[in-house]
Amino acid sequence: MAEVLHKVVEETRQGEAYAPFEGDPNVFHKKFYIESYGCQMNFSDSEIVASILQEEGYGATRNFEEADLVLLNTCSIREKAEQTVRNRLHAFRKIKDSKPGMLIGVLGCMAERLKAKFLEEEKLVDIVVGPDAYRSLPGLVTEAEGGQKSVNVLLSRDETYADISPVRLDSNGVTAFVSIMRGCNNMCTFCVVPFTRGRERSRDAESIVNECKDLFDRGFREVTLLGQNVDSYYYSPSPALPQGEGAVTFADLLERVALISPLLRIRFSTSHPKDITDDVLYTMAKYHNICKYIHLPVQSGNTRILQLMNRTYTREWYLNKVKRIREIMPDCGLSTDVISGFCTETEEDHNDTLSVMENSRFDMAYMFSYSERPGTLAARRYEDDVPEDVKKRRLVEIINLQNSHSRESYKNDIGKTFEVLIEGDSKKSDKDWSGRNTQNKMVVFPKNSMPLKKGDYIHVNITSATSATLLGVIV
Ligand code: SAH
Ligand code: SF4
Ligand code: F3S
Repeated sequence: MAEVLHKVVEETRQGEAYAPFEGDPNVFHKKFYIESYGCQMNFSDSEIVASILQEEGYGATRNFEEADLVLLNTCSIREKAEQTVRNRLHAFRKIKDSKPGMLIGVLGCMAERLKAKFLEEEKLVDIVVGPDAYRSLPGLVTEAEGGQKSVNVLLSRDETYADISPVRLDSNGVTAFVSIMRGCNNMCTFCVVPFTRGRERSRDAESIVNECKDLFDRGFREVTLLGQNVDSYYYSPSPALPQGEGAVTFADLLERVALISPLLRIRFSTSHPKDITDDVLYTMAKYHNICKYIHLPVQSGNTRILQLMNRTYTREWYLNKVKRIREIMPDCGLSTDVISGFCTETEEDHNDTLSVMENSRFDMAYMFSYSERPGTLAARRYEDDVPEDVKKRRLVEIINLQNSHSRESYKNDIGKTFEVLIEGDSKKSDKDWSGRNTQNKMVVFPKNSMPLKKGDYIHVNITSATSATLLGVIV
């Protein structure tokens, strides 16, 4: 199996990352290089693409200058994400000039959004492939080798790549992502994802459980089940059966994965406040190995804005969900996504967002200012009327408030003891281990004389904290 390395340049949820890895030159007759941007789904897709290319005799390289095929798996979520990709493409131009045979392919959401227009806008691109068309990549490469620019951006109603066994990129050998569904039917008005990823469809439950089992057998100790809206996971094995018979809900799936082994931790992302059920919360509470952590994007704390966003819940609904989570799992970690300056947002609406944050006390948040995306419902229906400087100022207020909550949340853990899954050396020193507790907080602690290794569980007593890391000692 190829040696893998995955260097994350910017650790934001929807950030940019860099994912080269190496293949054995004796096995592979050509080299490809892949970089991933955007969400975890995109990273997970790159692992599927790597698997498809490996089957075709392509080995990976860390050095794009020696690659025959350079791939960028792109994100369209905000304008900045697309700009980053364009800058990166321009950096490849020089190399391509001196190496005319090298092919450049654009994958992912930006490929889907721009389609063949990409080839006009960025002349050096040879191949454009959307998220549901990765199986056609080898054929498209062959066409492009023949000098023909090639595009496949067909979206599918049933593609889940269920049978493809992903090549784990950047693997620490302990934690892995497992895609359980694709697409999104929610149509939040600000969001480009339903257009770039198509209709929602759930992957065969059996293939998910088998992939998780296989990971466990290979030494992995944590899986993160991925989907844009995991709580609407619903797999019905045979349409011929009466409605609902044999069907698997997200709560059922969580339970099935939890039963693989008590030593396999389960996380999931992302939950939608309108869809997360008591069933899911009780299943989480029932199994020690289902991590007590929920990412529950609020977006805004104002009901009118939430309606304009088509989030389909109110401020009160959201606050009640948070209350319910805390009733059922008092120790559950909670994080969120927030958007500042959505269309028509007033100062009072913004203050409602700050007050939802005060009420909910998130341990962590991803915070953005609104970026209008072409083709979305918001772009078609509403004016992007909050001035850029106001959006930015509100974002700073949101970030400052969250920072104070995060600091407080981490400080409150001092003195507590947590079970930590060791993921590897700490970033700063190989004399320290790092791993996460069930609430998804990073914990760093000195190695002691115990013969511990990656993938082991250990209890750590917290002695100090920053706003993003807990520091402690083994007990
Ligand atoms: N499916 C996930 C979110 C995927 S996008 C969910 O529903 O939670 C991740 C985050 O990016 C969103 O939660 C939102 O906060 C942010 N986002 C999406 N579109 C955006 C836009 N046009 N401008 C700014 N932020 C946006
Ligand atoms: Fe976008 Fe909304 Fe779907 Fe999330 S749930 S991907 S924000 S449309
Ligand atoms: Fe970006 Fe597509 Fe994910 S737009 S956030 S890569 S689904």
